[in-house]
Amino acid sequence: MKFSPLALLAAPLLAMAAPLVDCAAAKTPAFFLAGDSTTAVDGGWGDGFVDLLRNGAIGQNKGHSGATTASFVAGGDWKAVLDLVKNNKAKHDCYVTIQFGHNDQKATSGLSIAQFQTNLQNMANEVKSAGATPIILTSLTRRTFKSGVLDDSLANVSEAAKKAAAAVGVTMLDLNAASRKYVQAIGQSNADTYNLAEGDRTHLNDHGMAVFARMVADLILGWKPALSASITRDEALSKKIADGVYA
Ligand SMILES: *[C@@H]1O[C@H](CO)[C@@H](O)[C@H](O)[C@H]1NC(C)=O
Repeated sequence: MKFSPLALLAAPLLAMAAPLVDCAAAKTPAFFLAGDSTTAVDGGWGDGFVDLLRNGAIGQNKGHSGATTASFVAGGDWKAVLDLVKNNKAKHDCYVTIQFGHNDQKATSGLSIAQFQTNLQNMANEVKSAGATPIILTSLTRRTFKSGVLDDSLANVSEAAKKAAAAVGVTMLDLNAASRKYVQAIGQSNADTYNLAEGDRTHLNDHGMAVFARMVADLILGWKPALSASITRDEALSKKIADGVYA
């Protein structure tokens, strides 16, 4: 009996094929980030978070500077996020983070707090319908102190975000509380080292991006430890943040 060299090569390859198929069935996560400038490129935590993804996990930062929950939908960004879910859910377990409030709460937004809550609920439901897991984040704190106390200026929208998550039964991660606790602990002058520009106590430079991306990653890992294979760890930075030590 004669074997062609090709058949001899093919046999072990075929034997390996079965476990490879099983591996392909285990989906890696995908994170799509919806939000305002405090998530977006050039001022937010989002790109820093995407940089932490590893082992086949993917992410896209769709944060949009100036966005409210209404303008994000009206302007097409929200459709782009849902399209990312539709196009990636066959290969990835998709998660959509939803973090707004900074612009929604301004009088100029034309939105009430109740409308903000309803918009978040609709977004979370649409993420579920699209086949992904929504994660509602409360608003990243601004970093302005008054007489030594951090100004709690995003309380109304953060409260509404919590109510929205509870109303539709989705995950809420309290970024507002975590970031206020940390920023209060480090104080005004340390907090100012994260400012995108001098006096801009809302937006983040690269240093601030790395710290608050770590904070978001740790909130997500605290919620779902199984994601640790997909998100790079930095125990030293995580410990500083958790302990309120300037990082
Ligand atoms: C929410 O709170 C902020 C800060 O206290 C305030 O400026 C804003 O007017 C409030 N927004 C609404 C719609 O009540």
